[in-house]
Amino acid sequence: MAKLAVLASGNGSNFQALADAIIADGRHSVVLLACDKAEAYALERAKNLGVPTVLVSYKGRPRPEAEAQLHDALTAAGADIVALAGFMRILSANFVHQWAGRLVNVHPSILPAWPGAHAIERAYEAGEPELGVTVHYVDAGMDTGPIIGQVRVPRGQTLDDTEALIHKAEHSLYPRLVLELLNRV
Ligand code: GAR
Repeated sequence: MAKLAVLASGNGSNFQALADAIIADGRHSVVLLACDKAEAYALERAKNLGVPTVLVSYKGRPRPEAEAQLHDALTAAGADIVALAGFMRILSANFVHQWAGRLVNVHPSILPAWPGAHAIERAYEAGEPELGVTVHYVDAGMDTGPIIGQVRVPRGQTLDDTEALIHKAEHSLYPRLVLELLNRV
């Protein structure tokens, strides 16, 4: 049985999809949800699922201090794999190095196209025909690192439709690939 920890900053729909898939699969467990924002709805989802949570605030403290708290919480939880799920912070090279090969991210574009925040909106508004989702190992860049898997998603009629299609694709691709990683631990 392998242990997954998830890092999120907001809504947490990808955290929910990961947790639901792992619970349904039954072989592994979600041991921690770490959030950098007290108001993140992801925290509520974790409480409803009975997943332990930790709030790692970056406010008014240097990044190394926040990352040390994060690292200690992940280590104490015994995390084998750490999945970023809408965690909107750049992790330092030092932190990434400590979790190398065990730290993964989901991003709503066909990377390397459209890294960064609001990727769906920016790509859609620019008329990008190649929309989709990427799951990748994390390095110290923003949405860079070796790609594990991608899925293409057609543009919808509207931005809202397109966002819904991309989120649906994330919620299918990310749990499938994370389960594969957990199976290999
Ligand atoms: C997701 O679309 C995820 O791919 C994106 O943030 C959203 C979080 O939604 N991540 C990035 O843009 C990373 N650069 P969620 O909180 O509902 O999972």
